[in-house]
Amino acid sequence: MNLKLKIWRQPNAKAKGKFEVYHVENISPDTSFLEMLDILNINLINEGKEPVAFDHDCREGICGMCSLHINGHAHGPDTEITTCQLHMRKFKDGDTIVIEPWRSAAFPVIKDLVVDRTAFDKIL
Ligand code: FES
Repeated sequence: MNLKLKIWRQPNAKAKGKFEVYHVENISPDTSFLEMLDILNINLINEGKEPVAFDHDCREGICGMCSLHINGHAHGPDTEITTCQLHMRKFKDGDTIVIEPWRSAAFPVIKDLVVDRTAFDKIL
């Protein structure tokens, strides 16, 4: 699969962010969404560019760290799964995928797709 990615890039909490466009090619439908982002980041690093910051931990649908908004939906187009359980077979070759951080005033963006979860941690 070849895909166009529109990803929110924001260097730090005070910077004004913006979408940037990237392309990934030859992605297997069996690749997980986070593995697809890993491939993008390897490509960016090999090109001498800054990789996209995104949160993840368990990659098994347990911890809740992978809080991305994908095409306007929390965790993407599938239901009752987390982003790390989402696979590229849910998209079509040639799709444009919009990837944003979880947007909430209580959880400001720290960098790119990573938000500050301090408010949530205080409740816990
Ligand atoms: S990385 Fe833990 S739930 Fe997705």
